[in-house]
Amino acid sequence: MERKVAIVGAGTSGLLACKYALSRGFKPIVFESRGGIGGVWIKTVETTKLQTPKPVYQFSDFPWPASVTEDFPNQHQVFDYIESYARHFDLLKHIKFNTKVLGIEYEGPSEEEMQCWSLWGGNGEPFSSNGKWRIQVQDTQLTSTDDQVYHVDFVILCIGRFSDVPNIPEFPQNKGPQAFHAKVIHSMDYSAMDYKSAAEFVKGKQVTVVGFQKSALDIAMECSNANGVEKPCTVIYKTEHWNVPDYLPWGFPLAFLYLNRFSELLVHKPGEGILLSLLATMLSPLRWAISKFVESHIKKKLRLAKYGMVPKHSFLQEISSCLISTMPEKFYDRVEEGSIVLKKSANLSICQDGVLVDGEVNPRKTDLVILATGFRGDKKLKDIFLSSIFKDIVFGSPNAAMPLYRECIHPRIPQLAIIGFSESVSNLYTSEMRCRWLSELLDGTFKLPSIKEMEKDVRKWDNYMKEYSGQYYRRSCIGALHIWYNDQLCKDMGWKPKRKKSFFAELFEPYGPMDYAVLN
Ligand SMILES: Cc1cc2nc3c(=O)[nH]c(=O)nc-3n(C[C@H](O)[C@H](O)[C@H](O)COP(=O)(O)OP(=O)(O)OC[C@H]3O[C@@H](n4cnc5c(N)ncnc54)[C@H](O)[C@@H]3O)c2cc1C
Ligand SMILES: NC(=O)c1ccc[n+]([C@@H]2O[C@H](COP(=O)([O-])OP(=O)(O)OC[C@H]3O[C@@H](n4cnc5c(N)ncnc54)[C@H](OP(=O)(O)O)[C@@H]3O)[C@@H](O)[C@H]2O)c1
Repeated sequence: MERKVAIVGAGTSGLLACKYALSRGFKPIVFESRGGIGGVWIKTVETTKLQTPKPVYQFSDFPWPASVTEDFPNQHQVFDYIESYARHFDLLKHIKFNTKVLGIEYEGPSEEEMQCWSLWGGNGEPFSSNGKWRIQVQDTQLTSTDDQVYHVDFVILCIGRFSDVPNIPEFPQNKGPQAFHAKVIHSMDYSAMDYKSAAEFVKGKQVTVVGFQKSALDIAMECSNANGVEKPCTVIYKTEHWNVPDYLPWGFPLAFLYLNRFSELLVHKPGEGILLSLLATMLSPLRWAISKFVESHIKKKLRLAKYGMVPKHSFLQEISSCLISTMPEKFYDRVEEGSIVLKKSANLSICQDGVLVDGEVNPRKTDLVILATGFRGDKKLKDIFLSSIFKDIVFGSPNAAMPLYRECIHPRIPQLAIIGFSESVSNLYTSEMRCRWLSELLDGTFKLPSIKEMEKDVRKWDNYMKEYSGQYYRRSCIGALHIWYNDQLCKDMGWKPKRKKSFFAELFEPYGPMDYAVLN
């Protein structure tokens, strides 16, 4: 009997899910609310480039074309690459564009019955003869006003964590955007404008940007390009970060310090045995020294002490939280000349004339506020479920990382997988590994353990994330432990986890997508 698989989203994760489902003989249907593929790469701000070096942000069976010589290609190059991948594997015909999934509902056993299950879906299988997902979709171009309904056996949610739903800070009463004389927008609105309109929009305005991650840094740079010292751009931030000027601390490749098996020996790993645990404890001084080595390079190169921008947390925490943003070139030169002004403030409120920050009585005069405060992927994910129980459990409790087994399967939501929510060194590479694992699961290559076992494993990863990512554990980052994580996927699939040719290469060479290019 043909099993129907639906994929929601046609960004990099959805395309990968489609390609690997096809490779196992399924005929997936992909719902995409926009008119094209590529997700976040369809449109970005003008200066956006890949932050992850190109060899790591690469499909394992479809290398970057030789014509792209840059290590950090720009948005158009990334988009073209993704599009050629989709064309090469003939994925477009499986996608229903301009089709937004309004909600999904599980039709099958009752919620009481599901709570008694000891195996995922009641039988430990990805499919069940008793349960189906009902998917309600809407034509976003409104060529048809009636919502349509599909019934499928398995759903793969690839709806993206960093798009569509903005994270808007909570403001004190009457001290939010409504009090301001001018506009308050989110980075997502700025990024949606064409380049010319965006440049005209900020030109001649005193802009305040809120946030200190990649969107904030890039937008502040664009504002300073447009307005110089005449109308400086103020950046209001809560936390200093180890944003990197390059990937070569003191000339030594960062990947050799954090992305090889040796670096993973220095940290405690979920599910490690006593020997590995002892080793990680014994090697902790080295772990500390490596972090200091990288920090000293960033501090010196960016002159962080001079600008009071030295983070309080370690570089290890930054990389373990997947928060390594690349610093736009000459950012601190702009701070030096005064076209970018940095202001730390834990609280933020807005009044008629401008923005109020900690320690200042008068508002900072502002003509435009851009909130580069990130996204609410959690909300987007919750909203897609119609059942209140699934809405409640999908993102887990507020004081735990997202409870996904192998960062793909919620132990208590049957016949469904979520790809692209836990972060990594390269989200494309990680999504590809997950989609391969998932396609093997769908094909019956391996079985999942009991719900109890899966939840135990999820708790171990949660402990790891809390230990190494600090306050950012909810980003569910596996970046600094991605080889250990991939090993588990490989073992499940029956692949050889060790992919290198020699003992030394295995220990010291960084891992990337091409290590998994050849199966088994
Ligand atoms: C500007 C920017 C630059 C980035 N740069 C990097 C980088 O350099 N390196 C890196 O590793 N990561 C980077 N990221 C992280 C990035 O999110 C991933 O690399 C990746 O491309 C995300 O792919 P995705 O498919 O998981 O999600 P998305 O690209 O967000 O795609 C999700 C898709 O789902 C669709 N969708 C959502 N909801 C519905 C619905 N209800 N019905 C139908 N369709 C729906 C959306 O329209 C979208 O097309 C960047 C993110 C941003 C925003
Ligand atoms: N390739 C590229 O060039 C590129 C460009 C843009 C985005 N991206 C990627 O896209 C993803 C999203 O990036 P992003 O920069 O949009 O979001 P983000 O990484 O989630 O960062 C959000 C920023 O807003 C701050 N913030 C959140 N809530 C706040 C509040 N209530 N008040 C004040 N500040 C608040 C955060 O502060 P704290 O630091 O204190 O938490 C953080 O600095 C990331 O993965 C990023 O790497 C990549």
